[in-house]
Amino acid sequence: PKVAVLMGGPSAEREVSLSSGRECAAALRNEGFEVIELDAGPDLAARLADLSPDVVFNALHGRWGEDGCVQGLLEWSRIPYTHSGVLASALAMDKERTKQVYRDAGLPVVASVLASKAEVAARHVLPPPYVVKPYNEGSSVGVYLVKDGANQPPQLSDEMPETVMVETYAPGREMTTTVLGDRALTVTDILTDGWYDYDAKYKAGGSRHVVPAEIPQEIFDACLDYALRAHKALGCRGLSRTDFRWDESRGLEGLVLLETNTQPGMTPTSLAPEQAQACGMSFGALCRWMVEDASC
Ligand code: DAL
Ligand code: MG
Repeated sequence: PKVAVLMGGPSAEREVSLSSGRECAAALRNEGFEVIELDAGPDLAARLADLSPDVVFNALHGRWGEDGCVQGLLEWSRIPYTHSGVLASALAMDKERTKQVYRDAGLPVVASVLASKAEVAARHVLPPPYVVKPYNEGSSVGVYLVKDGANQPPQLSDEMPETVMVETYAPGREMTTTVLGDRALTVTDILTDGWYDYDAKYKAGGSRHVVPAEIPQEIFDACLDYALRAHKALGCRGLSRTDFRWDESRGLEGLVLLETNTQPGMTPTSLAPEQAQACGMSFGALCRWMVEDASC
């Protein structure tokens, strides 16, 4: 079959997506697929009509590629595609609505509110410490931490959307679990010197991943259970990755879900392929599984 790998696109995670896309395209060629690499621009619909691929491998991240927009185009075009469909993509890209779904499913989260940039700049919308982030971007682009009341409320950059999410800071360890189909793979404990920010995520050596995480069995099992329940509650398909914080001083009570990524990174430093590898599935086998699982 002919596989079109969508990558790049106009979101803030364009560079991450180019890296994911190149890795996946190379792996799929190795697996014997005919592969076309497509940098997704405004002419995408025409290019897909022209190329008529059998499957689209969606390696886009962020807005337009991970939020239901491109999924809608692929549904309309009747081209099977990897990862989640329109609704799950749109829900999961919106971090505030994701939390509503989590709460309804009985999954633990920290308090958050949506606020305008002007409100956030004028006063502390929540008691510090809190985090301000775009409600609809990934890779920690535009995340601000307000540590204590002595800090001024943040003046947000022009690139930030008019509405942002203000979230009580969840202290503790950064952990993640990948779901593939109906199976939660394992838990990774992510060790960084400071914040797990853009550089720590994508620079080689920017963070250290302990997989499987060396944490109590109860917490490990809870991550697997919560990630699978989050995947199902949002209606995800194929691959997803749910991110956690765990305050170990509070035991199971200290474990909260941050978000579910419906198009997790597939770069050389990314977590989902590393978890698949830890479960005996090579990068090529993972990409093949995703193509074979594609639907519309
Ligand atoms: N948003 C990035 C790609 C991730 O979650 O892996
Ligand atoms: Mg994300």
